[in-house]
Amino acid sequence: MTTDYLPGFGNHVATEAVSGALPVGRNSPQKPPFGLYAEQLSGTAFTAPRAENRRSWLYRMRPSAEHPPFVRYDGAPLFSPATGDAPLAPNRLRWDPIAAAPAGGDLIDGMTTMLVNGDPAHLEGVALHLYAADRDMDARVFVDADGELLFVPQEGRLELLTELGRIEVSPGQIALVPRGVRFRALLPDGRARGYVCENYGAMFRLPDLGPIGANGLANPRDFETPVAWFEDRDERVEIVQKYLGHLWRTELNHSPLDVVAWHGNLAPYRYDLSRFNTINTVSFDHPDPSIFTVLTSPSDVHGRANADFVIFPPRWMVAEDTFRPPWFHRNVMSEAMGLITGAYDAKAEGFRPGGLSLHNLLSGHGPDKATWDAASNAALQPHRIDGTMAFMLESCWPYRPTGFALDHAQPDYDECWADFPKARLP
Ligand SMILES: [Fe+2]
Repeated sequence: MTTDYLPGFGNHVATEAVSGALPVGRNSPQKPPFGLYAEQLSGTAFTAPRAENRRSWLYRMRPSAEHPPFVRYDGAPLFSPATGDAPLAPNRLRWDPIAAAPAGGDLIDGMTTMLVNGDPAHLEGVALHLYAADRDMDARVFVDADGELLFVPQEGRLELLTELGRIEVSPGQIALVPRGVRFRALLPDGRARGYVCENYGAMFRLPDLGPIGANGLANPRDFETPVAWFEDRDERVEIVQKYLGHLWRTELNHSPLDVVAWHGNLAPYRYDLSRFNTINTVSFDHPDPSIFTVLTSPSDVHGRANADFVIFPPRWMVAEDTFRPPWFHRNVMSEAMGLITGAYDAKAEGFRPGGLSLHNLLSGHGPDKATWDAASNAALQPHRIDGTMAFMLESCWPYRPTGFALDHAQPDYDECWADFPKARLP
């Protein structure tokens, strides 16, 4: 697939797939060009401060309002099941990669919800899903009214055909589809697996840099927004919508991916994680992992994220007198982690690409015994961590695993911390 992208994060964009389709000088003239319908898609409240206000104007072949009633959709039983309110033991949990994709499953039917917190109806929280698909979405599209979707491919590319343009995303890249934007996913490699972070809260944004200064971490210029694209298909298309935690379906007699032109600053985007400008210590001790934040979704409490999307990329470790892997810690925030490729430096084994771990609210965790042994005795030379990419979705809200997740967790994860020697006091 070849497509054009525009650089920048949250920029105001004006783009048209047909010359003359985008009105100039008026948002919604009495008669938009070519009989197109003007529609505003809001990502923030109308009255959000200008710096945070996100919306786009879409010029489409038919209005989105034209659709029959939705009915329940039962084709993806592992996607967004209720997590219930049974007591949750304060155990560390870890998962191997889930089994192969169900034969003939597309991105939606191949979605498995693992961890959930918050409530879409309260506009707070985040969920972590795994996907495994081996079929294109052809005559149907998906739309998530509950949250924006951050795709983290682990195997195989995704081609996301969205209302606002086409995005191709490969392992090592991420792509975000805003809440309410309809799309379908093709699989250029025939199959695809990965993670999806579904954010019910405030939209992901770039973190403030504070004393780091004006540069570092993810640079705005490296985010890419697709130009306008549309399909003119007058045939049956199913819409599956996630709404208040459940899946619903309806049918149109045309593709809703019919936005011929748009302008605004609410749009899908992609980002290549290899472009992350990693900041780290050059003296001693570790900065907190927040130093690796790519995107943040703030909560209503200043400095406490609804969700931080954090990566652990290839980087140099150069500190003096410093244990190099992450130290033991207990965190009031809750940490869900995935591994895109390679090995994570705090675990010798058991955390595989495509796997997942959960260290919820104040759960003690850190390096396993083998990693601690090796790192405690390693020569402290400058050391490059290479060939790896892990990510963390850290949230101020404790996660609840789904029933599927609880049933499929590794039974022996605690044992990796079982045999540490007692300290020897003088
Ligand atoms: Fe941690």
